[in-house]
Amino acid sequence: MRRFLWILSLTLVAAQVQAQPAVVYQKIAIAADHPAASEAGLEVHRAGGNVVDVAAAVGFALSVVRPESSGLGGGGFMVIWDAEQGKSIAIDYRERAPAAATADMFLDQEGNLLAELAQAGPKAAAIPHHVAGLCHAVRKYGKLDLKAVLAPAVRLAKNGVPLDEHSTAIRLQTLAKFEKRPEWKEEFEPFYRLYLQNGVPFEAGQIVTSPQAELLEKIAAEGSAGFYDGPAAEAFAREMRRVGGIISEEDLRTARPTEREAITASYDDGMIVTMPPPSSGGVALIESLNILTAFEQRHPELSAALHDGDDLLFRHVLTESMKHAFADRATYLGDPDYAEVPTARLVSPEYAAKLAAKIDIHRTKPLEEYGRTSPTRDGGTTHFSVIDAAGNAVACTETINLGFGSYVVIPETGLLLNNEMDDFAAKPGVPNAFGLVQSEAAAVGPGRRPLSSMTPTIFVRDGKAVLAVGASGGPRIITATMQVFLNAVRFGMPAQAAIDAPRQHHQWLPNELLVEPPLWTSSRAGLEAYGHDVAKEPSLAASQLVLKDEAGLHAASDPRKGGKPAGE
Ligand code: GLY
Repeated sequence: MRRFLWILSLTLVAAQVQAQPAVVYQKIAIAADHPAASEAGLEVHRAGGNVVDVAAAVGFALSVVRPESSGLGGGGFMVIWDAEQGKSIAIDYRERAPAAATADMFLDQEGNLLAELAQAGPKAAAIPHHVAGLCHAVRKYGKLDLKAVLAPAVRLAKNGVPLDEHSTAIRLQTLAKFEKRPEWKEEFEPFYRLYLQNGVPFEAGQIVTSPQAELLEKIAAEGSAGFYDGPAAEAFAREMRRVGGIISEEDLRTARPTEREAITASYDDGMIVTMPPPSSGGVALIESLNILTAFEQRHPELSAALHDGDDLLFRHVLTESMKHAFADRATYLGDPDYAEVPTARLVSPEYAAKLAAKIDIHRTKPLEEYGRTSPTRDGGTTHFSVIDAAGNAVACTETINLGFGSYVVIPETGLLLNNEMDDFAAKPGVPNAFGLVQSEAAAVGPGRRPLSSMTPTIFVRDGKAVLAVGASGGPRIITATMQVFLNAVRFGMPAQAAIDAPRQHHQWLPNELLVEPPLWTSSRAGLEAYGHDVAKEPSLAASQLVLKDEAGLHAASDPRKGGKPAGE
C-alpha cells in the first residue's frame, strides 16, 4: 500500500508555483504548511511567547488544520537554537513501540511480511508522544503557560477552518480508497464518521471543525496528564483492547520525550545543527553535504560547476552523495538506545573524503558500490520553521506517518492514531511504504523508536541562527532539506526562490533518480548520460524555510503544499 504516492502526487510543482510577495519581518518569522498554523504562531508571539511557545502553538494548530499530516496521535522532533545561551536542544518525541511489540509482529508463520498490518489498523500505531513533547518544550523552554499556547488551536478546532485545496484533495482521495475497500467503513467506523463525514464528499472552502477540540481543551487545562492519564487514557486503552491493539494504559502513563545532543557540523562560515538518531535525516544531510565539500576539495578545478545549481555535473555529484548517504541509512541507522549507530563516523569529514574519492565524475555506479551490504530487496508529515530577531530558532517536524495514519480513531476523544510502526524494518531488508530498506538496527522491539527521515535543521553563524529548515514527504524530506539548504546557503537564493526551485531525489533503493518536471525538461538527457535512471515525479516533498540577514527576517512556505508564512 504505497499511500505516500497519492499524497505527494497531488501537490504539483513548478507549473503551479505561484509567486508569493517577499515580505521582510523584523521580530519573528514563521513558515508552516498551513496559513492558519503560521498565524497561530504569530498570535502566541504577540501574547509574549518566545520561539518555543510559538513552535508549540504551530504544532498544536497543525493537529487541527492538517490532521492528515500530524497531530496528537503522532510524534515529532524539535531542534531549538538558544542564541543567548549559545546552545542547541534536540527534543525527540518520536512515537515508541508498545511494550507488547515483538520483532515478528508483522510477519506470517512463513516469515512473510504482512505489510498492511503495519500500515492500517490498531497494530500499526505506536505510542503517541506529540503531546508529551510539546508540553515538555513549553514547560522547560517556553515563557507562557499551556493555556495561552493552545488557545489558537482550541479556537480553530471549535470554530472550524475552511478546507484548503491540499486537505480537500487528501480527503477525497482517502474517501476513494474507502470506496474501493468498503469493509473499511465498518472496520474504521469512528474514522469514517469523524474524519470522512460518513462518506459525504468534501468541497474546498467548507468549514471543518476538529473532533479533538475537547481533548485539546483538556490538554490546555491539565497539561500532558490530560492525555496520558485519567479518562482520555482510559478511553484510549479501552478502544485498543476492543479493536485488537496493544498500546496499554501503562504505555501511555510512561510516555516521555527524550532530550538528545543535536548533531553539529561546520559548513562554510557557520554551523549546522540538526536532529540525531532515531532520525536518519540529520546524519544523511551532514554526510551528503560533507561529500559535496570533500569532492570539491579533491577537484578544485570543478569548483565553478559545483557552485552552479543548473550544472549537470553538480546534479550528478549531488545524486552520488544522496546514494551514499541512503545506502548507509539502510545499513546502519536505527534507535540509538537499542542499536549501535556509528553517528560520529558517518558525519565525519574523513569518512566523507573516502566516499568522495569513490565518485566517478563521468558515470554513476552499480548499487553494490554504495554502502556496506549488498542490497537484498528493499505522508502524513508536516514541518515548520520559526526564527526571531535575536537569532533564536526552532525547526520542527511532526508526523503521523502516512496520510491519516492508521485510520484508528478513539471514539470518545476523536484522537486519530499514527501508523508509525511501518517506519520500523517490519522485516529487515524488505522495503516499507516509502520503498526504504532498513537493517536489523531498525527492527521492531518494545519501547524502541522507529527510524525516521525527519530532518529539522538550523544553521548558525556567529552564535545566531540565520536559517531554519526541514520538510515533509518521507525519505524525500532529507533530500529536499539538503537542496533548500544548498539553495539558500551555497547559492544565496532568496527564501521563496530556494523553496520553489525544482528538486531531485535518490534514495539508493529503488535505483532511480526522481526529478521534478522542470529538471526533467532541462536535464533528463544530460543526467542519463551519467548513467542515472531518471524518472519524472510531479512533486518532491514540501519544505518550510526561514532566514535572517541584515535586512531582517524572511519566510517561505512551499507552494507544493499550499502553506503561507506569517510574521511581523
Ligand atoms: N514518518 C515519516 C518519517 O518519520 O520519516
